[in-house]
Amino acid sequence: GQLEKGGYPHFMLKEIFEQPDCIHDCMRGRINLEGTNVVLSAIIDYKERLLAAKRFVIVACGTSWHAALIGKHLIESFCRIPVEVEYASEFRYRDPVIDSSDVVIAISQSGETADTLAAIELAKSRGAFIYGICNAIGSSIPRATNTGSYIHVGPEIGVASTKAFTGQVTVLTMLALTLAREKRTIDETQYLAIVRELGQIPGKMKEVLKLNDRIAELSKIFTYVHNFIYLGRGYSYPVALEGALKLKEISYIHAEGYPAAEMKHGPIALIDAEMPVVVIATQNGLYEKVLSNIQEIKARKGRVIAIVTKGDTVIGKIADICIELPETMECLGPLITTVPLQLLAYHIAVCKGMDVDRPRNLAKSVTVE
Ligand code: AGP
Repeated sequence: GQLEKGGYPHFMLKEIFEQPDCIHDCMRGRINLEGTNVVLSAIIDYKERLLAAKRFVIVACGTSWHAALIGKHLIESFCRIPVEVEYASEFRYRDPVIDSSDVVIAISQSGETADTLAAIELAKSRGAFIYGICNAIGSSIPRATNTGSYIHVGPEIGVASTKAFTGQVTVLTMLALTLAREKRTIDETQYLAIVRELGQIPGKMKEVLKLNDRIAELSKIFTYVHNFIYLGRGYSYPVALEGALKLKEISYIHAEGYPAAEMKHGPIALIDAEMPVVVIATQNGLYEKVLSNIQEIKARKGRVIAIVTKGDTVIGKIADICIELPETMECLGPLITTVPLQLLAYHIAVCKGMDVDRPRNLAKSVTVE
């Protein structure tokens, strides 16, 4: 009912707007007030087992799988341990190489996804240690794992996952930081800077949410478009995949997420004046590279919607539309850049008159194969 939606027209919009509070709740009791220490109790309790891991394998589906890709990047950069990311549905039927030296991280909002549960059972039978990252308390996946961390973002009702994604990324960041400090693979100054910046994320998300009206307005332009491309590199590549999935799920517009530099190996053939291309082009180590990717798209008359860092004066002159976001550290970028893409998908679907909370053919949790 209207009351449960807290005045918002849809659960999805309510859940997008809840994210600053959700991320705050997710960090509560895990990051100290001074912002000098992160503790995920599950990691401390199983320290020896986790530190002994030769490799991490993350299994998940859908949006949770996108969070896993960000987790891989975080864990590999901070902890210097190899991480593989697998679709649970593929992993379970591939007779994967997995044994007791592996730690499997299973990510699931609902904790009831059948493929993820089956992947866990398989990995357990081979002796792997299982760490769950879930939202629904007491659901099947947390009960099947050896240990884990809840994301604590509250019930997610909208079929399109939003706050669970940013909650999963927040837990993965805290996990990577906790492990890295234990392993001494992260420089103390860098560690402190990241922890401090993590504390600033809810406030920065609030700033991004102020763009809601503007994104609602510009979404109208795309009501009758049939295709979309989303591009990003590094930490922004999984965000591009997630932005495309959100649009597909609720607006039924065909959308593809791609690593920006991979365009030239095929998909660039799709670009013409009809093709909107969302490019995550925030200020980071790959900025210049992404800039030239944008130029390649403009040279073929594509319509570029650029997600940039506030104060960017270069991309504004080239892109058709610029969405300016507050600056943050590259490794925390997904927590900020995902939000405008959620809003864009939401508003385009609303313009098309779609039932965003209950899109056709989809279930909130996929409890069958
Ligand atoms: C996300 O918007 C989707 N509806 C879907 O991809 C979802 O993330 C996937 O089914 C996994 O669900 P889970 O996190 O509950 O396991």
